[in-house]
Amino acid sequence: MRLTSLLSTLARRGHVILALGGLALLTGCKKLDFWTMNGHQSTIVVSGPVARSQLDVFLVTCWVTFVIFLFVGSVLAYATLKFRARSEDDEHAEPPDQGHGNPLIELSLIGASVLALVIIAVPTLKAITYTYDVAVEDKANTYEVSASGYQWWFKFEYPAEQITGAGPLVTANELVIPAGRPVHITLRGMDVIHSFWVPKLAGKVDMIPNRGNFLWLKADAPGYYWGQCAEYCGDSHAVMRFRVIALGPREFNKWVTDQMAPAREVAPAAPAGQPKAQFAAYRTDWKRNEKGWSDKFEFNPLDAWRSQQEPDAKHEDLALIDKGKHLFQEKTCYTCHNVRGHSVDVVISGKLQNVPFLGSPAYPNLTHVGARSTIAAGLLENNAEQLARWISHPDQVKPGNKMYATGYIPNNIKLTPDDVSALVAYLSSLK
Ligand code: CUA
Repeated sequence: MRLTSLLSTLARRGHVILALGGLALLTGCKKLDFWTMNGHQSTIVVSGPVARSQLDVFLVTCWVTFVIFLFVGSVLAYATLKFRARSEDDEHAEPPDQGHGNPLIELSLIGASVLALVIIAVPTLKAITYTYDVAVEDKANTYEVSASGYQWWFKFEYPAEQITGAGPLVTANELVIPAGRPVHITLRGMDVIHSFWVPKLAGKVDMIPNRGNFLWLKADAPGYYWGQCAEYCGDSHAVMRFRVIALGPREFNKWVTDQMAPAREVAPAAPAGQPKAQFAAYRTDWKRNEKGWSDKFEFNPLDAWRSQQEPDAKHEDLALIDKGKHLFQEKTCYTCHNVRGHSVDVVISGKLQNVPFLGSPAYPNLTHVGARSTIAAGLLENNAEQLARWISHPDQVKPGNKMYATGYIPNNIKLTPDDVSALVAYLSSLK
């Protein structure tokens, strides 16, 4: 008896259980993230005033519709109960008196609808004005950045930080900003339409070719925030990600100073004595994630980012790094990727020539790639293993990416495992 009643309850409630379970599965989040609504890309638990004002509009709308739902639901329940068929006899009873319009009810419903719309419209209009641009009184304190969307990565430029002979400071896929200051971001699409979205801070605004767009955001406190392209833009749209790293004033200034410096040079030859550990020994203190995807870090992601900033000189194999640097020229990597300040001497048509790693502005700048917490546009953790995976099979990590289609294929690039080790050692040394 008990079992059958349990089964019938399950059958009746089954759809609710299924719906909740399905929702939990669909969000793909850890259980805790699901119930606290605090995933990496949560718009419910936010960390800045722009996202907060967007959340407020959402919540006002939710409350208004919730009140309407309660009201309509109660009237419906009342009518269902009051006018339900009571017995066999009722089937032949006369229907109750039918009403044909009640001006009071109709006017009240119109009034209530207008009131509901006004309650939603006022905070919406306020939020539109607020999120549109930094308030006039904050303008002087605003930090200016420019973001460009490419298939499938983000370029960030810092017009306030000009490097003699090299234009503004440029980085890729990790936007470092001062916490607590308004940041005004100019948005551009360089090939197709992309969209800039950092759910916990602000968004989303389209990055459209040939049309300047912008948004502003502010991070309440230092932190590590997940960003994502939010407009379908081709094969690897879903893995076109980025990070925003907000730092306190002193740490931000140090980061800018470090980034302004040219790429780090290491001595070209290993000093005498014990041979240095191979690249695989790199960052043994870095706790790796199962598949190397960068959406989860074993420890605080901001600490993970910080631990990438300083060179790991103890574990560096200087000869291997130097070999990697020469391979960077030999395998034509330097034709696309800028490593500011680096060059190699090579013999070209019988003459010794100096080849600088100038690259092109349309590809990720690698001057300080070793100091980033992620590679492949926020997809993989930046460690030796994942770097090796990325440079040896870029097409498998990111379908359709240009490293494969415009580099490997036309230049007939083939990397042996030793080449990969050397390139990884070189790239990791670029702090
Ligand atoms: Cu870029 Cu979607």
